[in-house]
Order: sequence, then structure tokens, then C-alpha cells
Amino acid sequence: MQIFSEIAPLRAYLAGERRDERVTFVPTMGALHDGHGACVREAAAVENAVRVASIFVNPAQFGPGEDIGAYPRPLEQDLELCRQWGCDVVFTPGPEVVYPSPQRVRVDVEALTEPLCGRSRPGHFRGVTTVVAKLFNMVSPDVAVFGQKDAQQALVIREMVSQLDMPIEVRLARTVREADGLAMSSRNAYLSEEDRGKAAGIFRGLQAASEMIRDGERAARPVEARALKEMKVAGINDVDYCELRRVGDLSALERLEGRVILAVAAKTGATRLIDNMVFEIDGAVAAIDVALF
Ligand code: PAF
Repeated sequence: MQIFSEIAPLRAYLAGERRDERVTFVPTMGALHDGHGACVREAAAVENAVRVASIFVNPAQFGPGEDIGAYPRPLEQDLELCRQWGCDVVFTPGPEVVYPSPQRVRVDVEALTEPLCGRSRPGHFRGVTTVVAKLFNMVSPDVAVFGQKDAQQALVIREMVSQLDMPIEVRLARTVREADGLAMSSRNAYLSEEDRGKAAGIFRGLQAASEMIRDGERAARPVEARALKEMKVAGINDVDYCELRRVGDLSALERLEGRVILAVAAKTGATRLIDNMVFEIDGAVAAIDVALF
């Protein structure tokens, strides 16, 4: 496995590989877990490809009250996981490499970034799209893989790629869950034992909602209310949003039809967690927990 922390040697190496192989790319902020492993496995499904992952904790996507200093950075452990998962290249730039001068060009995706996390984390998605665009320019991947757990992020990046005519195929890896259903996330490391117990309530909320949908409920508000109730029972009182929206444009809806997402953001203790479940609804028939795209 090759490790690069500078752009020029990374590009030179990939230029050689690119003659015979495609390039797949999994951008990460490190503190890797099986959810990232699923992204690397999805990338590995591309034949004749060199598999690149990046580890970069991006300051531009943290808000003023969000403690970037506390973000876990277990680099050696991360590199070992990349080795085990079969990455060929890991790119580990520092902030001075990604942002050598004040960033005066930014990428803004309109509309899709307005609801859900965009509402409560102003500037977050602009930080994400800007760094992902920069990383795409450094790596020039043919295929990039993102996790369905960060569903809004995946939709926003797909829109950026499409609207800026980037020649990149965006693929998704399904959410990987702990035994009790908690979605794997680097932020789970922050949870106290008590909050970790409560956090599984987010998945139970999604499950309770999915049971209502399976049983034929098609009005959005009662389904959201059912998920909220289940989370409250688990001791989760600080819910930022629990909303059903259309997958295509994340617009609000009253009745469930087509591909819809139930997206949740909630705090247990000081830790903000997000999760979602996607449904494909065709009249009385509902497919539960399907791919976002
Ligand atoms: O999902 C993440 O880990 C980050 O938002 C990403 C895509 C690596 C950009 O910093």
C-alpha cells in the first residue's frame, strides 16, 4: 500500500497506474470503521482499478461550536484498516496541503443543501463540496464511493458532480450497523456508556416508522410522530429533525409515494448522530430500507 501526503507524488503515481487501470476513490475523515470498509468493498467491485482512500479531517465543514480539535485521529489504526481492506493508495494530506492559501473559491450546491442538516449546520455542505471537489481534482477518480448513512451528503455530491460535469461515477455503500442497529459512525466514539445505550433508539424509531409504512400508512406526519415517540421512549429528547422527504430533491411531502427518505438527526449527550431509512412506495406496496440511488 502506497501512502502519500503531497499532491504531486500522488498524481505522478496515479498517472502511471491510470494507463491500465481505472481509479476508485473513497474520501474519509479517518477514525475508520466498517461503514468505511463497506465503501472500500463497493469500490473493490470495480474491476481493474487502483483503490484510493483519503484521510483528511476537513476544517471547512466544522461549524463554530463544533470541536474539530476533539475529532479522533487514530492514523496508524486507520492505515492498518486500509491495508486489511485492500486499499492500494492512501492519501493523507495535512491542512497546509489542501488549503495552502485562504480558500477563496468554494462550491455551493443550492436547494438540496437547504433542509435537514443544511438548516442546522450552516456552511457545512459548502465545506464538504469544496473539499470533495478539491480532492477529486487531486485524485481524478473514475468512481467515488460515499456512505448512504450520510444520505444528504451523497445527494449533494452527486448533484455537484452532475452539474459541474465531473467525469466521475458516484456510487453508494449501504449503512453498516452495530448489533443493536446503531449506524456505524466515527462520532460513536464520543458516546458515554449511557448515551451509547440511548443511541440505539434512533434505529428503533426508524424501524417503528417502517412497520407503519409496511402496514399501509401513507400520511407522513403520523409516521414521523411514531419514530419520534420511539426515540423519546429510548431517552432521546434532543431531536434536531425527524422528517420524511422525497429522495429526488429532498422536498417536503404530506403523503408517501415514490422514493422517500425518513431522515433523523438527534443528540445523545453532546453527540449529534444522523441516520435514515429509504422507502420505495408504489400505492399499497412499500419496499423497506432500499438504496438511496
Ligand atoms: O463523509 C465524510 O467523512 C466527509 O464529509 C468527506 C466526504 C470525507 C469530506 O470531508
